[in-house]
Amino acid sequence: MRMEEGVRRWVVDISKWDPQPPDLSFPLSFLPSHEHSSVTRFVKMEDRKRALVSRMLQYALVSDVLRIPLSEISIKRTPEGKPYVDYDKLGLGLPNFNFNVSHHGDYVAIASESVYLVGLDIVSYDIPQGETITEFIHFFASYFSSLEWDNIVNAGTSYDVLIEFYRYWSLKEAYVKAIGSGLTEELHKVEFTHTCWTNITAKVEGMPMAEWRFWLFELGERHCVSVVKGHPRSAAMNYKATLNKIDFIEDEYHQFLNLPNVDFVELSIEQLLLALQKARVGKHRS
Ligand code: COA
Ligand code: MG
Repeated sequence: MRMEEGVRRWVVDISKWDPQPPDLSFPLSFLPSHEHSSVTRFVKMEDRKRALVSRMLQYALVSDVLRIPLSEISIKRTPEGKPYVDYDKLGLGLPNFNFNVSHHGDYVAIASESVYLVGLDIVSYDIPQGETITEFIHFFASYFSSLEWDNIVNAGTSYDVLIEFYRYWSLKEAYVKAIGSGLTEELHKVEFTHTCWTNITAKVEGMPMAEWRFWLFELGERHCVSVVKGHPRSAAMNYKATLNKIDFIEDEYHQFLNLPNVDFVELSIEQLLLALQKARVGKHRS
C-alpha cells in the first residue's frame, strides 16, 4: 500500500444533523457494543452527537484505509485515553498508521497518517459568559510563553485577542494529542511562532521542532482546527508501544515528513452512514 493512502482528513458539521433520540440507534448499530456507553452516557444530545460521530469517523476511516470490514476492526485506547487500531499495520506498508479525532462546537474531525504522528484539535470561538475576555484568558496565562502572550494581548480588539488565544490553544492541544501524553503540563513547554497563521513553527523547551509540521485552518466562521505532524520518537511511552517504526534513515525521514498535507473533506452524516454500510459488508473499496 502506498504511504499516501494512510493520509486522510475528514470533517463533519454536526449542526446540519438534528436527530431525535431513536434516530441514534441506526448509527450506533455500526459500532461494537463496548463503544455504545461512551455515547449514551451523555445526557445532552449535542454531546451524544459529538461522541457518536467521533466513533463513526474512526471506524469508517480505519475500514477505508486498512480495507477491512467493521467486524475485523479493534480500536483500543492507551492508559492515557488515546485511541489506536490494533492491527498488523507493518504488513500493509503503513507501519505507524495512526489517527486522532477532535470535537468542539459544530464540528467533529479526524486526521490520519501512515508513519508520522498526527494530532488535531478543533476550537469553537465561544465568547466567555459572565466574565470579560481579559479575565477568561488570564486564567490560562501560565500555559503560554511571554512571546505568545505578547501576541495574544496585542492582537487588536478584544475579539481579536480571543481568536488569537484560541488559535494558540488549539495548536498546543493538537501537539499534546499527537504525542498522546494527555498531560496539561506539556502545554506550556511548546512555543509557537507564526506569520498570519501560516508558516507555523515551534520550539519545545527552547529547542526548534524541526521534525514537526503545523497547520491551522478555519472551519466556517466560528471554529478553527489545528493539525500537527511529528516524529514518532516524540510519542509518549504507551502510545509509542503501538507504533512499529520509530527510527528512519535520512531519505525516509524527508520523504515521510514532506508527504503533502491533504485538505479536509467534508462528509455529511448520510455519506458517513453509507461508508459504514459498505464497511459492514466489506465493500469499502467499491
Ligand atoms: N491523546 C490524544 N488523543 C486523545 C487522548 C490522548 N491522551 N485521549 C483521548 N483522545 C482523543 C479521543 O479520540 C477523543 O475523542 P473520543 O473520546 O470521542 O474518541 C478526542 O481525543 C477528544 O479530543 P477533543 O475533542 O479535542 O477534546 P479535548 O480537547 O477536550 O481533549 C484530551 C483532549 C483528550 C487530550 C484532553 O482530555 C487532555 O487530556 N488534554 C490535555 C490538556 C488539557 O488538560 N486541556 C484542557 C485544559 S482546560
Ligand atoms: Mg480539543
